[in-house]
Amino acid sequence: MGGLMAASTTRRGVYSSMQINPQIVSILDRLALQAASMSYTPYSGKAEGVVVLLEDGAVVNGCRVENASFQLSVSALINAWSTLHAAGRVDVAAIAQNRPYTEGEKAWLQAMNEFEWLFPTPTLAVLSDDLPEPSETLLPLLDQDMDSAASGIALARDIAGLAHTPQSNFPVGCVVRTADGHVVPGVNVEHEDWANILCAERNALSTLIAYGFGPASEIWVACIKEPGGTPCGACRQFIAELAPDATVWIDMGDAAPRSISVPELLPGAFTGAGLRP
Ligand code: THU
Repeated sequence: MGGLMAASTTRRGVYSSMQINPQIVSILDRLALQAASMSYTPYSGKAEGVVVLLEDGAVVNGCRVENASFQLSVSALINAWSTLHAAGRVDVAAIAQNRPYTEGEKAWLQAMNEFEWLFPTPTLAVLSDDLPEPSETLLPLLDQDMDSAASGIALARDIAGLAHTPQSNFPVGCVVRTADGHVVPGVNVEHEDWANILCAERNALSTLIAYGFGPASEIWVACIKEPGGTPCGACRQFIAELAPDATVWIDMGDAAPRSISVPELLPGAFTGAGLRP
């Protein structure tokens, strides 16, 4: 959908005079469509993609990640937004989706009271009308190489510093190493709508899907305020479906990290295998 055409027909007439560069809008539309193609949607088939444009032109991707336990499915918007935090970037200029924003998503964005979102088209949220030209895709990767379980936990503790926890003040850091050698961060990212937040583990695993990285082989989890804290039930379910062969390492504080296999983490998990084609 063309940017300026859509802007002139938006229901929020107050924004219809915004001058968004139509070329930038069409690049963002195309990138959001590309992001959608990464979706993991074996249950509904409804691919969804989001691209976040940062102030320096870098872009961050998100796609829909479904789960056999349907309510745990992660929207492209929350996937991208939580990836931003884990990458230490919140200098957002715009967020484009491959489909119109729902009223719920608009309300979710508006409830983050440090931002005033405008919707010049049904698929675009912006913080100003002066958008940078989209440039390279930001890869949410860490360049450390963990040579021990303890070094993975040390990195997860560092990463927890990027958690966004205004509701709980309970930062969690997660580091995932994939079978193809990528090291990906995750943090918990909260919102006043407590039903639409994401844990550190699901943040990292959803990032793997959005960027097409291989499956997780190790998952390090550090609950800074609760050494020994393990993944919540929702994350266990998510890990069982997307990372069944991973080893999960838990920060035990001063003691050595503890490893847990996925069958130990969630015995008898419902994996959805029987649902998928
Ligand atoms: N949390 C995680 O990120 N991972 C866990 O394993 C446990 C819980 C977060 C979610 C929420 O931001 C806060 O901790 C309390 O549930």
